[in-house]
Amino acid sequence: MILKGTFPTEKFKSLATPFYFYDITLLKETLNTVKTEAGKYGYHVHYAVKANANPRILSIIAEYGLGADCVSGGEIQAALDAGFPARKIVYAGVGKADWEINLGLDNDIFCFNVESAAELEILEELAAAKNKVASIALRINPEVDAHTHAKITTGMKENKFGINLSQLGQVLDLVCRLEHIKLIGIHCHIGSQITDMAAFRGLVIRVNEIQEELEARGIKVENLNFGGGLGIDYYHPNHLPIPAFDNYFAVFNKLLQLRPGQQVHFEPGRSIVAQCGSLISKVLYVKVGETKKFCILDAGFTELIRPAMYDAYHRMENITSDEEVEVYDVVGPICESSDVFGKDVELNRAHRGDLIALRSAGAYGEVMASQYNCRKLPTAHYSDTM
Ligand code: LLP
Repeated sequence: MILKGTFPTEKFKSLATPFYFYDITLLKETLNTVKTEAGKYGYHVHYAVKANANPRILSIIAEYGLGADCVSGGEIQAALDAGFPARKIVYAGVGKADWEINLGLDNDIFCFNVESAAELEILEELAAAKNKVASIALRINPEVDAHTHAKITTGMKENKFGINLSQLGQVLDLVCRLEHIKLIGIHCHIGSQITDMAAFRGLVIRVNEIQEELEARGIKVENLNFGGGLGIDYYHPNHLPIPAFDNYFAVFNKLLQLRPGQQVHFEPGRSIVAQCGSLISKVLYVKVGETKKFCILDAGFTELIRPAMYDAYHRMENITSDEEVEVYDVVGPICESSDVFGKDVELNRAHRGDLIALRSAGAYGEVMASQYNCRKLPTAHYSDTM
């Protein structure tokens, strides 16, 4: 027996595919868990909008009182439109354009996470032109290996993100000279889909060291931001729908040497939204090749690019068949050989018209969809409005 998620399958049958389906009850349970676990230590949580910027999802997250972590002017606007207060918005990114910085300044966002000396100088210029003082955190590249996929590792010397530890002194000197910049914190983000807590332990230890360096220079910061990165269980979405936020926050609480009055911030994306979303797709054809049986779906990497881009695994379930299990290569219709969702996938025997759920697709799914091959962007449906 293949264990499957619970879906309103009969209702799905009348809907045009492919589409994203969001389990709003699970999203809310996840948000309650994050709030409770972070709340135990008074930690602040800014949802990483990049994981899923669907307006309905954003507005639910805003209702729960989280802040927003944005990486573009578009995301700042989406967060404001969804009801996130500007005073809870943080803004990171190695390539902030002038209009994006201005949008942040005009709305008095909580903090710019600054990634280079070059960016600092432009921020100073733009803030001065508006007679404002920009609150900033220095995004430091902590040189901690996240042991995750190379394409989603960010905290190593060779990555483009953050200020290298060896250059921190120079940047701090610059900050002290700038009149329209106020240093309020330090920020680090080491990567994504991190399931080994040792990586986060390494990060906290590094931040403790950085704090000592800052203090040696007479600098005290009010805010420490540890970014996002907590991974989810892509293999067991039915057993483990909510990530272990308790263990995650406990690592920081245990090891972090907090100074009086310091505030701690996080920017989780995937761990909040991944498990509540599934991509629902229809089987177009079952093609029996010489060595393989292909299950050809009407969704492709245009709707969910993670398998093609990061060799990511997404659990697949045939939610309209309980027939004997067979092995398929599950592929999409896009004209590229990389348009494969999974090889040798066990599915209940598939027929044209069956619905296949690609699980754990709520993060970096809908938001990364493209119109390649002149396809339409996927639509979305929600458990509470069906
Ligand atoms: N903060 C910063 C500065 C980030 O760059 C990211 C993710 C996050 C927070 C949120 O990380 P999370 O909690 O979601 O791991 N498209 C890739 C993931 C890219 C992550 C980019 N940065 C994927 O599909 O796996």
